[in-house]
Amino acid sequence: MRIFAIESSCDETAASLVDDGVKEIATVVASSSKIHEQTEGIVPEVAARKQVEYVVPVISEALDKSAKALGLKTIEDVVRGIDAVAVTSGPGLIGSLLVGVEAAKALSLAWGKPLIPVNHLVGHIYGNWLEAEVLPEFPAVVLVVSGGHTDLILMKGHGYFEYLGGTYDDAAGESFDKTARLLGISRYLGGALLSKKAAKCRKNTLSGRLPRPLLHEDNYDFSFSGLKTAVKRLVENEKNKVEVVACEFENAVVDVLVEKTIKAMKEKNVRSVILAGGVSANTQLRSRMKEAAGEVSVFVPPLKYTGDNSAYIASAAYFNQVYKKYEDIQANPSLGVMDKV
Ligand code: KG4
Ligand code: ZN
Repeated sequence: MRIFAIESSCDETAASLVDDGVKEIATVVASSSKIHEQTEGIVPEVAARKQVEYVVPVISEALDKSAKALGLKTIEDVVRGIDAVAVTSGPGLIGSLLVGVEAAKALSLAWGKPLIPVNHLVGHIYGNWLEAEVLPEFPAVVLVVSGGHTDLILMKGHGYFEYLGGTYDDAAGESFDKTARLLGISRYLGGALLSKKAAKCRKNTLSGRLPRPLLHEDNYDFSFSGLKTAVKRLVENEKNKVEVVACEFENAVVDVLVEKTIKAMKEKNVRSVILAGGVSANTQLRSRMKEAAGEVSVFVPPLKYTGDNSAYIASAAYFNQVYKKYEDIQANPSLGVMDKV
C-alpha cells in the first residue's frame, strides 16, 4: 500500500511517499527554523505563513522525486499508484496544521484517494518502523520525548496504547531549549547544541548538584520546570564552565528519563523499548537507555526521523488505517498522545 503524507505541525513542511509503512520512496522537508532563531522563539503566524509559502513546492518536489525514484515518466503516473493521502491533524500550531490539513484534503478530493488523519505524536513513534532491519516487538514501552511533549506509553500493538505517565509541566525538549538559552548556547531549539557542549566536559565537577525531579516517586511521571530554575541558581551563584553545567543538566534529564522508562520496562515485562521525538536524537539518552535495558531491545529512530518528518506520518497511517471523509477532518492543536484523530 502506497501512502502520500504531509506534515506541517510546526516549522517543518514535509511531504513523503512511503510503501507499506516501512519503505520510504521519497521525502522533501523544508524548514523555517532559521527565521525563528532571529526572534528567539517561534512566532506562530510567521510559521504559518512559511507553511503557506512552502507547501505546494514541497508537494510538487516530493512527487517529482518519487517519479525519479520509481522510474516513472510523469507525476500523473506517480499519482495513479497512490492508495491514500495522510496528514498530521494535531497536535501543533493551529495556523501551521491548517495548511497541511487543507492541502491534504484538496489532494484527496482532486486525486479521488481516501484520507487518513494522523496524530503527530503517534507519528513520531513510527520513525522506528522506517529503514529498520528489525522491527520492534510488542508489548513495548515507548518514551515520546519532543519539544512539546514527554509521555511514557505501553504499546500493546498498533493502535493499542495504555498511558503510563507524562510531564506535569515542561517537556524534556523544552527544558533543553530553555537551559540552552539560559547558558547562552542557543537562542532557539538548543537541545543538540547543549548536548555537544556537554560532550566537551572532561570531568563533571557538579555531579549530583542538580535535582533529578520525581526520580524516586513511584509513578511514571516527569517534571522538568524546576530543573531549569536550579540551573539558573547554579550559574548565578557560582562561576562554572558552561560545558560542566551543560553536562550536569543533560545527566539529570537523562537519569530521570532512563530510570522511569526502565522501571516501566521491568514492571510491564515488555519485549521492546522504543524512543521517539526530537530528544531521541540525544546520544547520551540512546547509549544510557541501551546500557540499562540489558537483554531487552532498545529501538531508536534513524536521526533523520527524530525531527518532524512526513515519512513516519505515512507509516503511522499505514499501521493505523483510520479513514475519514475530508469534511470530517479537523486540525486540532491540543491532541494528546492518547487522543484519537
Ligand atoms: O519532535 P521535535 O522535532 O518537535 C516537536 O514535535 O516538538 O523535537 C524538537 C525538540 C527540541 O526541543 C530540540 O531541542 C530537541 O528536540 N532535540 C534535542 C536533541 N536534538 C533535538 N534534545 C536533546 N539532545 C539532542 N541531541
Ligand atoms: Zn514533532
